[in-house]
Amino acid sequence: MITNIVFVILMKVIYDKSYKVFFGENVLNHLAQTIINKAYSNVFVLVDENTEKYCLPILKPYLENFTLVKIASGEIYKNLQTANNIWDNLQQHSANRNAVLLNLGGGTLSDIGGFCAATFKRGIDFINIPTTLLSMVDASIGGKQGIDLNNYKNLIGVFQHPEHIFIYPEFLKTLSSIEKRNGLAEMIKHALINDEKLFNKIISTNQIDAEQLEKWIEKSAKIKIKIVNRDPFEKDLRKMLNFGHTIGHAVETFSLVHDTEPLKHGEAIAVGIICESYLSFKSNMLSKDEFDLIVKYIFKNFLKYISNWNNKELLKIMHNDKKNINSEINFTLLKKIGKAKINCYCSMELIIESLEFYKNFVPQKN
Ligand SMILES: NC(=O)c1ccc[n+]([C@@H]2O[C@H](COP(=O)([O-])OP(=O)(O)OC[C@H]3O[C@@H](n4cnc5c(N)ncnc54)[C@H](O)[C@@H]3O)[C@@H](O)[C@H]2O)c1
Repeated sequence: MITNIVFVILMKVIYDKSYKVFFGENVLNHLAQTIINKAYSNVFVLVDENTEKYCLPILKPYLENFTLVKIASGEIYKNLQTANNIWDNLQQHSANRNAVLLNLGGGTLSDIGGFCAATFKRGIDFINIPTTLLSMVDASIGGKQGIDLNNYKNLIGVFQHPEHIFIYPEFLKTLSSIEKRNGLAEMIKHALINDEKLFNKIISTNQIDAEQLEKWIEKSAKIKIKIVNRDPFEKDLRKMLNFGHTIGHAVETFSLVHDTEPLKHGEAIAVGIICESYLSFKSNMLSKDEFDLIVKYIFKNFLKYISNWNNKELLKIMHNDKKNINSEINFTLLKKIGKAKINCYCSMELIIESLEFYKNFVPQKN
């Protein structure tokens, strides 16, 4: 479990090239200064009902004048209608090309906020201020902005980096443990594809305190930054980040359509990590011991998704995945813990077998 204590680092610049990523306790001062220096004509702050309640009061003292734009939280609202609302707000409040949109929220909010900013009047600046664990280590970084279409994940979107990213771990104090676990899934994915040491550290820690978490956030965010920098437009290397996401996105889409309480992104990715680790193991890459370790850790930390999902429907969703090149379903698999292999293909039988493995697995009680 993740507990809260005082965060320690004042401020670090953890990336500094075409845009900067600031991290630590002092970042909001720096954000305020950045906004003054840029002399933006108008400042818009995008929030959902939770970030308005919990995060805006923390940010507000650092801003002079701003216009609040509010959207409803949840993946089901990451769509064209919400985007339209945001564009309307920008237009009604006379946003010009010198305006800036501050995305104060998790990945759902920064995906749609970034998309709207990148397309409004052919692009205005936006700044990500991630407030969930998942967005601090993943969604706020990398320049992928998008919305869902007919429940298909991120089908409409653009590549556009934010002006800057300000990671302020104190925001996590009000985040529920369910949402922290949600972020853990992407942190585990980063470790599995690129950092065996981090994976071993995470799985051997029972009680994650804030100081520990802060170190992992920094490490995990740096993994994403490193990969994205080498391949910003996902021609090859960046596909590594898709580990767990081919099946994960299909399960997330299925859940969005069929469940009254849909799975959260990280929960769906946890399912994807198990199934795609199964594919890695059965494709003679991942060893049995490593596979067992992954399965054990995920089931210890994530509730099993009980669903009578229909394999055919999941496969149909996977076939529609934007990552596919031809008609084959494209996977990123694990050669071992800490090393990923992109552009892997598996037989339909094996993919179905991996889904059945998940469905039939009976997690041990600890
Ligand atoms: N663009 C990318 O590269 C990328 C990468 C990974 C995930 N994503 C996307 O990110 C989304 C998931 O992001 P998420 O898990 O951050 O979800 P989210 O943005 O929906 O936030 C989860 C919940 O936490 C609440 N919340 C946010 N900050 C809070 C705080 N500090 N205190 C209390 N409550 C708070 C939100 O209101 C929401 O209810 C998905 O849409 C996924 O597709 C994008």
